[in-house]
Amino acid sequence: MTFHRNRINRTSVLVGVVALWAAAGIGAATATASPPTTSPPQRAEVAAAPAPVAAEPASLTEQRGRPTVSRAPWGKTPDGTPVERYTVKNSHGMTVRILSYGGIIQSLQAPDRRGHKANVVLGFDNLQDYVDKSPYFGAIIGRYANRIAKGTFTLDGTTYRLPVNDGPNTLHGGTKGFDKIVWTATTFTTPKTAGVVLRHTSPDGDMGFPGKLTTQVTYTLDQKNQLRMDYRATTDAPTVINLTNHAYFNLAGEGSGDIYDHRLKIWAKSYTPVDKTLIPTGEIAKVAGTPFDFRRSTAIGDRIREDDQQLIYGLGYDHNWVLDRSSGTGLQRAARARDPQSGRILTVSTTEPGLQFYSGNFLDSTLVGTSGRMYRQGDAFTLETQHYPDSPNQPNFPSTVLRPGEEFRSSTIYGFSAS
Ligand code: GLA
Repeated sequence: MTFHRNRINRTSVLVGVVALWAAAGIGAATATASPPTTSPPQRAEVAAAPAPVAAEPASLTEQRGRPTVSRAPWGKTPDGTPVERYTVKNSHGMTVRILSYGGIIQSLQAPDRRGHKANVVLGFDNLQDYVDKSPYFGAIIGRYANRIAKGTFTLDGTTYRLPVNDGPNTLHGGTKGFDKIVWTATTFTTPKTAGVVLRHTSPDGDMGFPGKLTTQVTYTLDQKNQLRMDYRATTDAPTVINLTNHAYFNLAGEGSGDIYDHRLKIWAKSYTPVDKTLIPTGEIAKVAGTPFDFRRSTAIGDRIREDDQQLIYGLGYDHNWVLDRSSGTGLQRAARARDPQSGRILTVSTTEPGLQFYSGNFLDSTLVGTSGRMYRQGDAFTLETQHYPDSPNQPNFPSTVLRPGEEFRSSTIYGFSAS
């Protein structure tokens, strides 16, 4: 299989049975190389909407019922770099707060079936806790999301070594990944959306990865309660790349308890089993007859304590599902989670081939979150859209190689509703 490089067009289609799969700008498949981006890419290329207009005062746009974005200082990193928090709001009950530090989704308010809002992502109420101890809460992950075995890979005959930070392996880009840098942020609004564009240039050799990588992540909130993430990157030397967002969700509200009653559906017939260090064995295994079968909506906790070697290795679910994709590299449905108490529903659609479902196994009561409540094991789940873990060392997995002259593009939509 080839690596997905998606070009976004402005067609809107309905994907799947749920209305929330709706209205996504669907990328047409293309393997065509495009020239390296030397100037900042234009916003209009990543939003399925008319050209953006300059942000206007919130009071004006709110009156018109349009989404708004505002910003406020949110402290400084230990080296004195100022951090800002962006508040993106629509007129349908959703508010998303994004930090320039790590591109972190710091809070996400979504309405339940009665219209009551709750913050459904784990996080902190201050920058220092993110700097000191965050297990990637809400952050952009790069250059390589998930694990690279023994912190090494070989590309075009050259072997590269990365810092190991997860037992013998490299996790989430190494000791200082994209979750720990301050991104350059700009805001935008259109008549139906508002959001933030984050840019970062990672120098050649950063965390051991080759090539200067120019990266852009755009968060867009629309009036259908969809939060869209568009990732783009170019390089000046061959490299590997895997970008995602690491939001931890609890649809009943962060700090409200565990997510074992949440029902989850994943559109995947297969997954990638792992060894005891959570590196894929290389096998693409069928989920049928295993606790990994979420083809029918099932409570997360139903089978999590089964005597299954894979669940034992992961301390629960911490695996990559191989998404059922029809032909094409456009946005396709990946997963749906629902909290039965509040009725809140999260739907995930993506252009990526894989999905890491992690059931918050390493939350260990040591972190106190945004609302002052302590987080315990199983208090949240993640649905990280991605290429498969350790792809640089796994020849049978879709390639994560990015070369000069090509552009990496991927998109994911987290949609919120209630029933
Ligand atoms: C990912 C990994 C997990 C864990 C979390 C962060 O989801 O797959 O093993 O490292 O990030 O704690």
